Order: sequence, then structure tokens, then C-alpha cells
Amino acid sequence: MGHIIQTGSFLPGNKITNDKLIQRTQIDSNDDWIQQRTGIKSRYWAEESLISLGINAAKKIVQSSQLSDIKLVVVASMSSYLPTPSLANQLIAAIGAENAWGFDINGACSGFVMALEVANALSQQYTEGYTLVLGIEKMSQILNPDDRSTIILFGDGAGGLLIENNGKALPEFCSQQLAQADSERAITVDVSYCQNNAVMEMKGREVFNFVMRQVIPTLKDFIEEHQLSFDYLIAHQANQRLLDLMEQKLSIEKEKIPSNIASVANLSAASIPVLLDKLVQEKKVRLEGKQQVVLTGFGAGLAWGHQSFKL
Ligand code: COA
Repeated sequence: MGHIIQTGSFLPGNKITNDKLIQRTQIDSNDDWIQQRTGIKSRYWAEESLISLGINAAKKIVQSSQLSDIKLVVVASMSSYLPTPSLANQLIAAIGAENAWGFDINGACSGFVMALEVANALSQQYTEGYTLVLGIEKMSQILNPDDRSTIILFGDGAGGLLIENNGKALPEFCSQQLAQADSERAITVDVSYCQNNAVMEMKGREVFNFVMRQVIPTLKDFIEEHQLSFDYLIAHQANQRLLDLMEQKLSIEKEKIPSNIASVANLSAASIPVLLDKLVQEKKVRLEGKQQVVLTGFGAGLAWGHQSFKL
């Protein structure tokens, strides 16, 4: 079966604690409020460009001997100013994956599960070589530093994985992708490309309610319908309170819902692959085709998706 043989991630060097963020932006907030409402203690904000975050992550995932065998690159991101060239094309050129083609997906915080969905389907066309799937975000460039309800929530980073193609799907892959109108305009990013200026606006309470009313119940149904017994639920890291609620509502042991939001904040499309790579680095996930994981991504759109497979 086609399977995941490598993960990798990159976080920029500039660690911003809550206190440092408050000092830098002069917002009316405090470390206690941020930690209590979100679980976030710090985040990394990049000096480097969005694409360099992706290049750094890709270099950790792909060995130089595999480069010419990469067939497909799928990149999920919501924070690019450039409509074209795509991040995937820029990345293919930068790392020298000379036989690859690729494209971007903007699915906001659900971007990675969408990218993996498409990569899993398309990679089945190839009986050899590799498919690279990445989530790359520089959220700091689309935030309003004066908006205390969003500036505290997001960080920058990139992560991804490499699938070895063999004409088949990922082992025991099943999924459900969903969308609905954002009638309350709960999350929007208005971009003025020519001024390199984009600003996110979010109604945090609306998003919170959407996760409670739509994401968690459909996740519960998904797990029950497929009778999934899994090792880890790798959930999009939006808020520690939401992760705690998932644990409660799904009656799952705490150890099965890992979290890294305290140190990296919400990385949007990079959130799930950065956390997955952390589990691999900690040797909790072994990429031996024996462990079952459930992924759940959710966010702007509104869009959300659940997946499960063996890795
Ligand atoms: N510091 C201090 N006070 C803040 C604050 C901050 N950084 N941000 C907002 N507040 C204030 C609000 O202005 C409000 O004040 P008011 O009562 O005087 O109007 C008060 O705190 C409560 O705001 P509210 O938005 O109701 O708080 P909350 O408990 O819902 O927490 C979020 C806010 C954003 C942390 C929470 O709603 C959340 O995490 N939502 C999900 C967001 C998300 O995950 N987005 C990404 C989608 S993938």
C-alpha cells in the first residue's frame, strides 16, 4: 500500500512569548488571559518569507537521492500574497524536484486535510516515486497587530510528509470532507495584493460555536460509523479549550489527543503536519504501518474534514 515514509517540520527562530507579544503590539491583554482562554504561551513569527519556511521543511522531509523521483507536490496555505506562481511551483524549483508537478490548496485551517485528501487520490496514479504534501503558513503577515482577539492566536511554521507511491491509497484510508456557508462572516481575510496588505477578521465566539455544533458531533459520528479504534486523534490546534472539549465529548483518553498549541499557537494549514512530525520525533508515531490515526481539520470557509488511515 502507498504509505507515509517521512515527516518533517520547520519553525522559525523567533520565539514570541505572550509577554513579548503584548510589549511589541501594545495590545490591552495579559499572559494569564491568553493562557486561560487559549492555552497558548508562545508562538514563532518568521523574519523569512513564507516560501522559505516551506523550503526548510521540505529539505527535512526529502533526501537528495529522492528529489528527482518526486512526482507530485501539494501545498496547503492561506497566507500567501502571490496568486501566482503557486507555492508548489516555487518550491519545486527551489528544491530541484525536476520531475514533479504541483499546485496549492487554500482551505485555511482545513487546508492540510484537504491537501492530503487530494494527494491520497492522485498519488494512486503513480506506481513509483513520491508525493510530497506540505502545510506552509506565515500567519503573522495577515494579522492586524491592533486586534487583540486574533493577534494572540496564530503562529508561523511549515510541516509535511512524504508518501511513497505504489498505485494504492494510504492503508485503511477513510474520510469525510464538509463545508457550509459562513453566513456570519466568522473568519475572513481581505487582501490588497498590490499593497502587500492583508488583514484577518474573526468572530472568535462564532468559530468556537461552529466547532462545538458541527465539527465535534460529525467527528463523533465519523469515528462511530467507521468503528475506528485509533492511537492518536491529531486535531487542528485552534484552542486548548476546544481540544479539551473534544476529549470530553468523544470520551477519549487525554494521551490520545496530543497538543502543541502552547508553544506554537495556531499554525492554520501547518498545524496538523507540525504536530504529526513532533509525535514522530518523540517516537510516539513510528511510520511502520501499524498505528491508526484520525486527523481533524476545521476553520474558515466554513470547512472541515476528518480522515483516518494507518501510518
Ligand atoms: N486579551 C484580553 N481580553 C480580550 C482579548 C485579549 N487578547 N481578546 C478578546 N478579549 C476580550 C473581548 O474584547 C471581550 O471583552 P468584552 O466582554 O468587554 O467585550 C472578552 O475578552 C471576551 O471575549 P470573547 O470573544 O467572548 O472571549 P472567548 O472566551 O470567546 O475567547 C477566543 C476568545 C478568540 C480565544 C475564542 O473565542 C476562540 O478561541 N475561538 C476560536 C477561534 C479559532 O480557533 N479561530 C481559528 C479557527 S481555526
